[in-house]
Amino acid sequence: MIIGVDYYPEHWDKEMWITDAELMAKTGIKLVRLGEFAWCRLEPEDSRFDFGWLDEAIGIFSERGIDVVLGTPTNCPPRWLCEQHPSVVPTGRNGSPNPIGIRGHRCVNDPVFLGYAQRIVAEMAEHYKDNKSVVAWQIDNELEANFCFCPTCNEKHREWLKSKYGTLQALNKAYGNVVWSGEYSSWEQIDPPYGDYNHAWLNPAYMLDFNRRASEDTVRFCNMQAELIRKYIPHAKITTNTWFCENMTDFYKTFENLDFVSYDNYPTTDIPKDTENIYTHAVHLDLMRGIKRENFWIMEQLSGGMGCWSPMSKTPRPGMIKGYALQAFAHGADTVVHFRWRTAAIGAEMHWHGLIDHSNVPGRRFAEFAELCGEAEKLASLRGTRLRSDVAILYSSDNEYAFKIQPQTYGMYYMEQIKLLHYAFAGLGLNVDIVGQHEELSDYRIVCAPEMYVTDESVVRRLYDFAESGGTVILTNRSGVKDSSNNCIQAQLPTVYSKLTGCHAEEYDPIGGDSVRIKFGDGDTFTGKQWCDILNADTAEVLAVYDSNFYKGNAAVTVNRFGNGRAYYIGTVGEKALYRKIALKILKDSGIPFTDSLPDNVEMTTRVGDEISARFIFNNTDVSQEFTLDGRNITLKPFEMMIEEI
Ligand code: GAL
Repeated sequence: MIIGVDYYPEHWDKEMWITDAELMAKTGIKLVRLGEFAWCRLEPEDSRFDFGWLDEAIGIFSERGIDVVLGTPTNCPPRWLCEQHPSVVPTGRNGSPNPIGIRGHRCVNDPVFLGYAQRIVAEMAEHYKDNKSVVAWQIDNELEANFCFCPTCNEKHREWLKSKYGTLQALNKAYGNVVWSGEYSSWEQIDPPYGDYNHAWLNPAYMLDFNRRASEDTVRFCNMQAELIRKYIPHAKITTNTWFCENMTDFYKTFENLDFVSYDNYPTTDIPKDTENIYTHAVHLDLMRGIKRENFWIMEQLSGGMGCWSPMSKTPRPGMIKGYALQAFAHGADTVVHFRWRTAAIGAEMHWHGLIDHSNVPGRRFAEFAELCGEAEKLASLRGTRLRSDVAILYSSDNEYAFKIQPQTYGMYYMEQIKLLHYAFAGLGLNVDIVGQHEELSDYRIVCAPEMYVTDESVVRRLYDFAESGGTVILTNRSGVKDSSNNCIQAQLPTVYSKLTGCHAEEYDPIGGDSVRIKFGDGDTFTGKQWCDILNADTAEVLAVYDSNFYKGNAAVTVNRFGNGRAYYIGTVGEKALYRKIALKILKDSGIPFTDSLPDNVEMTTRVGDEISARFIFNNTDVSQEFTLDGRNITLKPFEMMIEEI
C-alpha cells in the first residue's frame, strides 16, 4: 500500500523543498502529486515554457525515492491567456463571464482554449516522457460537467440535439414542448437554462439532456488529454480525481478511457448524531471501486480541519487520519495521497488544513500520519488483492441528474436508499459493490436496484434476466417512473418492473417529513418516511403492510418469485433495521454466509488474493466498541482498524 501527499512547490520557497522531501522520505512517503494548478509558472508567457523549476522539484523527490503523479494544469489558465482570448473564460447562467481567480475558469469547448490546453499538455508529456519518476498522470482537477453558457457551448448543444433527434418535430415530441407553448420552430431558439430558476421550473426532459451533454463535453475534454499523453507516453497510467459535486460528470463515461479511478476523500471530522452521515464514506469508496470494478486511488485524503468556502470544521479526532486512510484500503484503494503536506499560508485555501500546520512544526496529526505510513509499508503484500462481492447495488448518473432536477418529496435524496441497502448487507459483514446500471450482473447473487427512476430498457431487461436465472433483485419506490427522456410512463407503478415485482401501486403518498408504521407478518414493526407506494399484490407475497394512514392494510413490502429467482419491492423509505431484516431473510434463503455480531458502524470487508487474503474490521465511531467475532472478544478503540490475515 502506498501513501503519498499533494505538494505545491510553487507555493513555497525553494529552500523548503529539500527539507520537505527529506522529512517525507523519512516518514515513509512514496509519492507526491504535483503541478495541477501551476499553468502560470509552466507557461509564464504565451509559448514560453518553463519546466526548470518542476524538473528541479521532481529531481529532489526522485533522489529520495519518491515518485510523482503529475497533474495537467488545464483547470486554471493563466491570466495572460484569459486577457488575450476572453473566449476561454466560461459564461455563467446569467450570461456573463465567470470571474477569473477562483479556478475552473475555462470553457472546455472553446476552440482557443482547447488549442492552448493541447499545447501545454503535449509540452508536458513530451518533456516528461522519459522521466521514470513520473509514474502517473492526473488530468485537470475535479472535473465537473460543463455548465458553460457561452455561444460556442450553446451551438454545441444545438448540434448535439440535432444529431440525437434529427428533426425539431422529434425533439418537440420528446420534450413535450407543447406544454406552456414551448415548441421550437427553429434550432436557434434552443437556449441553455439561463437564469437562477429552481431546476424544477424547467422542462425535466430538456434539463436531463442538458446535463447529459454537459457531462459528455467534459468527458471529451478529458479523453482528448488522455490520448495526447498516450501519444508521447504509450504506457502512461492516466486518471482524473473525481468527487461528488453539484454538476457531476457521468462517472462511468469519465473513466471508460482512463487507466484507473482516483477519488478525493474527505470524511467528516464532526461526528454527527446522525450516524448515517458517517457511514457515507464507505458507500462512496465502494462506488469508486465499482466504477471500473477495480482497485483505485485516493488522490486527496483528509489531513486536517477543512475550511475555505465554508467555516472551518473540527480538526480530525485522534484515530481519524490513520483510520480513514486504512478504511480506504479496506474498500479497495491501493494508494492514498493526502491533501496536503502543509497548510497553505497563501491563497483562498489557507484554512483547509494539511498534515503540518502553518507553523511548520509537525504535530499530533503528523505523528498519526507517520504511524499510518509505517503500517502501510507492512501491508505491502496486500497490494493488488481484491474485494469480491455477491451483492451489487446499481447506480445511475441519469437518476442522479433527474432527482436533482425534480426533488421528489421533502428530505428524499437518491443516495439515501443506496446507503440503506449498502448498510444492510455491509453491516452483516459482506463486501458490497456499487456499480453502474449497465454493468454485467452475472457475477452477483443479489442485485439492489433502488429508485430506478429514469428507465433504460436494456437495464430493465437485464434485471428481468438476472431474476429469471436465479438472482435476487431488490427494487424500491420511484422505479419505472420516467422513460428515457425523463417523461412519466403512463402505467401503474412500478410500470416496466410490475411483472418482475408482481405488485402495483394503486396510488402513492409523498409524506415528506411525516412517518408511517410498517408491520411485517411476524409482528415486527418499523417506521417508514418520505414516500409510500400504496401497493396491491398481483402475484407477489406480501411481507409487510402499512399499519397507519388511510392505506392501513395495503402492502408496503412484497416479494415475488420470478423464474428461478425473486424480486423484492420496498414501497417506502424505511429505517435501517427494515433493510437489515430484508437482507437477513435474503441471505438465509440463499445460503450466503454472514456475520450478525458487528455493532452499528463497525465495518468489515475482505480483500482476497492468490497468495494472501485479509479481513479489515474498522470501528467507524468515536467510542470504543466491544463485540464478539467468530467466538473471540474484540475491542476496537475509536477509529481503530484491525487487519487480520485469513
Ligand atoms: C479539493 C480540490 C483541492 C483542494 C481541496 C481542499 O476539492 O481538488 O484542490 O481545493 O479540495 O479544498
